[in-house]
Amino acid sequence: MEEEKAVTVIGPGKPGLRGRLAADLAALGYGVRETEAGLVVCAGGRDCREGSRRFEVQDAFDDILHASPEIEKTLSLVSVVAPTDAIVLISGESGTGKELIARAIHRNSMARTGPFVPVNCSAIPETLLENELFGHIKGSYTDARCDKKGIFEFANGGTLFLDEISETSLALQVKLLRAIELSEIRRVGDTHPIKVSCRVIAASNKDLAGLARSGKFREDLYYRLNVFPIFVPPLRSRPADIDLLARHFLEQTAKRLGKPKLSLSRTAIEDLQRRPWPGNVRELQHFMERLVLLNSGPVIMPSQLPDKDASPAQAPPLPEPDLPRRRNAAPEGEGLAQAEKAHILRVYEECGRSATKAARRLSISRTTLWRKLRLYGLAVAAFLVG
Ligand SMILES: Nc1ncnc2c1ncn2[C@@H]1O[C@H](COP(=O)(O)OP(=O)(O)O)[C@@H](O)[C@H]1O
Ligand SMILES: [Mg+2]
Repeated sequence: MEEEKAVTVIGPGKPGLRGRLAADLAALGYGVRETEAGLVVCAGGRDCREGSRRFEVQDAFDDILHASPEIEKTLSLVSVVAPTDAIVLISGESGTGKELIARAIHRNSMARTGPFVPVNCSAIPETLLENELFGHIKGSYTDARCDKKGIFEFANGGTLFLDEISETSLALQVKLLRAIELSEIRRVGDTHPIKVSCRVIAASNKDLAGLARSGKFREDLYYRLNVFPIFVPPLRSRPADIDLLARHFLEQTAKRLGKPKLSLSRTAIEDLQRRPWPGNVRELQHFMERLVLLNSGPVIMPSQLPDKDASPAQAPPLPEPDLPRRRNAAPEGEGLAQAEKAHILRVYEECGRSATKAARRLSISRTTLWRKLRLYGLAVAAFLVG
């Protein structure tokens, strides 16, 4: 029975995808057999029998632009794992597209009709994170005036995306492991377990294996999460994507800002391909926005590219969708956003995590509060309850 459960039929999928998929999966130790219906894949290299899981792969990866074989390979793994309910661990530097991939997995999964719930574990203070994930019951601490559902419950029937999982405390990791293994949670202050059923996708921009080895991340949780690892390579190692993405962002931004169409000279593209892009695709995206604001084109030459180490102060201000990600390190120049966030989260906590009360005390609308909490990775529970 176990063996049957482990079998996934993938197909028919994109023309040309099957062969590559089959090779990739075999290299990873999966048993692979080609049938008319598609690829029959099973874990552990055992004999493949057509099992209970049959799934059409939707080619819904259109938003993940790529020209490089590296991302093609990543996507072939994504299409294998998406239709199963396996836990996926996505690793890669910040800005490489991990969340984009998590969303693609959700869209192609059995849970696609359910919600996709992202939680940024590094953006939320420790005590608040536990409450948000598991909920609490009335009276579990001062100001907890009513029961509150946790994010695990809101993600029921859908996908829970635990981003920056390395930033959770060892104590919380024990609880996460329990929730994942038993598919049940306990609200803070409660002794009754509640059954939950959601697909878990975790992501990390740190080396979780290394952290687990050095005792900074629980090994048992690491092994539980590392069922199907997917690595998203940094942008600098896939120059073919830089070309495509740069043109895409240029066009997209020009359109959005109502500016004339710009194009990049061959030498400008080569210049971009030589840059290190420590912030990866996100950095390239912002860079291209800056370019559109600074130039009227029509063809961008290397001399018109903003300096490699231009400080943000020299560039025109841009809307910054990403809040500081580290809990304790406020990067230079982001002090205000950091202070605002700390203040909002403190008030929110003092108000017993009631969005209505907190919004009133902060003199902002509930919608504004909700938007802020969502940026901090706290969307669902805050909005729907209280
Ligand atoms: N291959 C891609 N095609 C189009 N946009 C991308 C691609 N990879 C990343 N992006 C964009 O770059 C930004 C950062 O991606 P995100 O998934 O948030 O990265 P991460 O989670 O690894 O930090 C997002 O705006 C995302 O839409
Ligand atoms: Mg991210």
